[in-house]
Amino acid sequence: MKNLILIGMMGSFKSSAGKLVALKTGRPFWDTDDVLTELFGMSIGKYFEIYGEPSFREKEAEVCARIAKESGCIIATGGGVVLRDDNMTALKENALTIYLSATAKSLVARLNQGKGRPLLDGPDFEKKVEEILSERTALYEKYADHIIVNDGLTSSETADKIIELIKQYDK
Ligand code: S3P
Repeated sequence: MKNLILIGMMGSFKSSAGKLVALKTGRPFWDTDDVLTELFGMSIGKYFEIYGEPSFREKEAEVCARIAKESGCIIATGGGVVLRDDNMTALKENALTIYLSATAKSLVARLNQGKGRPLLDGPDFEKKVEEILSERTALYEKYADHIIVNDGLTSSETADKIIELIKQYDK
C-alpha cells in the first residue's frame, strides 16, 4: 500500500490533520520533525541555533530516505522538505502526495507569531511567511499529486478532506 505524504508550509496542518487521518484510518503515522527532534535530543529551534540550517537539512534528508521505505503510512513532512529534490524523489517512489495549501493570511493566523519555527523567528514574522510561501509555492505544486486548499478549514475538516481523497483512490 502506498504512503500518503503531506507537504506544505508551516501552519498548513500537515501534522495535526495527518495525525487525525492516521487515527481515523488506522494507518501508522510518521512526522519527520518528530523523528528529528527525537534524533537530536533537542527542539528543532535549538538544533538550528547550534548547528545551523544546512546541518538540519542533511539530517532531514536522511530521515526522509529512511521513512520513504515504509508503506501504508501517513507521513507529515517539515515545510522545507521540497527544497531538496532527492527528498521528494525518495518519498514519492511509493506515495500519493498531497499539498495542503493556504494563503499567507491563513498561515499567519495559525502560526502564533512563528513560535517554535526558527525560520520565522524575530521581527517581520508576517513578511517572512509571505516570502517563504512565494519562494516555495511552485515547488509544492510541482511535487503534489493533489492540492487541498484549506483556508477557512480546521485541522479536523482538513483531515476529512484528505480521507475523502484517499477513499477515491481506494475505489
Ligand atoms: C521548516 C518547517 C518546520 C521544520 C523546520 C523548517 C521549513 O516544520 O521542519 O522549522 O523550512 O518550512 P513544519 O512545517 O512542520 O512547521
